[in-house]
Amino acid sequence: MSMTTDPTGISRRGVLQTAIASAAVATVGAGGLLVTREISAAKPDKGGVTRNPLYVPPTVSPGNFSISAAPSQADLGGGQLSRVLAYNGGVPGPTFRTTTGSSANIQFSNGLDDETTIHWHGMIVETAADGHPGDAVVPGGTYNYTYPIIQRACMNWYHPHPHTLTGEQVAFGLAGAFIINDNEEAALGLPTGQYEVPLVIRDTKLDRTGNLTFKASKSGFLGDTPLVNGTLDPTLDVDTAVYRLRVLNGANARNFRIALNNGAPFTVIGNDGGLLETATNVSQIEFAPGERLDLLVDFRNLAVGDKVMLQDVDTGWDLIEFVVTQTSNNPGTIPTGTLSTVTPLTNPVVTREFSFDGMTRINGQVYELDRIDFQVPRNQTELWRFTTGGNAPHPVHVHGASYQVVSRTGGRNTLYPWEGGWKDTVLLNDGETVEILIRFDDNAGFAYPAVYVMHCHKLSHEDAGMMLNFEVV
Ligand code: C2O
Ligand code: CU
Ligand code: CU
Repeated sequence: MSMTTDPTGISRRGVLQTAIASAAVATVGAGGLLVTREISAAKPDKGGVTRNPLYVPPTVSPGNFSISAAPSQADLGGGQLSRVLAYNGGVPGPTFRTTTGSSANIQFSNGLDDETTIHWHGMIVETAADGHPGDAVVPGGTYNYTYPIIQRACMNWYHPHPHTLTGEQVAFGLAGAFIINDNEEAALGLPTGQYEVPLVIRDTKLDRTGNLTFKASKSGFLGDTPLVNGTLDPTLDVDTAVYRLRVLNGANARNFRIALNNGAPFTVIGNDGGLLETATNVSQIEFAPGERLDLLVDFRNLAVGDKVMLQDVDTGWDLIEFVVTQTSNNPGTIPTGTLSTVTPLTNPVVTREFSFDGMTRINGQVYELDRIDFQVPRNQTELWRFTTGGNAPHPVHVHGASYQVVSRTGGRNTLYPWEGGWKDTVLLNDGETVEILIRFDDNAGFAYPAVYVMHCHKLSHEDAGMMLNFEVV
């Protein structure tokens, strides 16, 4: 049975939990993690929209953790249960948090009816831990993802990466955040605890009974309803303080262009690969599926009772409402000056060209699981040039290394402040040529040659074949 055609399979656990869920929805995942959402506190706002408390997934350590992917039910808000596919019962799944120098040991079990993998998007890991579609876990199967955390502080994320089924599995709810902290970041005294909030933003299309749906379409699955952390019309009570929003575009195909409705800027401090060298204030940010933003938002000068809406400018959607409910004793500050040092990659010795053609091909070829398209020597800086004949967005994502975006010509013809530092996904819009510099380090303990993929992160394009394998040797 596939969720696409007949999403009737409620797990036994889901049925039992539904029976007891009069005040809250609780599901217990294979990791023994209890996920609870209050469903009583929804509040109608002035416009008559009933807003639901933002779901903030539990934070867990990846040091020794069991995670399952399985059918479940989630309260998307107001008690409306939806059939989902979930990591440990949550949509999104638990937020992993760890520090550079520690390690992940994650025991995965596949409770889906289809094969799947977990890919740790943005994590620098060897092939065996990367969730490559060739390492698919069969229904009922298990897999151990074990890897050292060797990179700097940043917010990555995890999601399925099975051959041709990624879009569907993500659409039904499988995704979660993965935060790495380090000493450099800690020294900045950035907002933390309740003042640091992961926001997984995506769109969806609900059926008449409120279940998530998915329709395969090469051009990309576009929904008509935004979800933030799996919550419909979310609201979050905030203090008069600086907040750190860790934002992920978790959509299949939609770019979001976010802005605050009070005209206040975002202070951009980081992106996919961690902190930028310095903070920049911007009032609007367009970002594509797979990209992350590390934003400070300043509520210090607001009064209790004030409301601020995070919106998508292109659709006019209200994404999430912040309601100031309390004066903070510890409002925090916005850092000025240097946040981090980013050593520029220079002097590429090889240039490679990749054209993202139609909706299914890179350089004229559709993805095949076993075809390796090129080899990259370790420790060599290369320039990769991305072009497209249309059908954007093509968010170009590379596994196995972070990269630096050095130019965009044609189209928007500029680089944006949030594209500095280290990236793993870059938006290639129609008419654009984007150049990156990339180097795959020789990582101690990794098995070489290492096979990684590069692909369009419009998940429908990825599933239709806009992906390739390469080998780091
Ligand atoms: Cu977020 Cu290869 O994927
Ligand atoms: Cu990835
Ligand atoms: Cu694409």
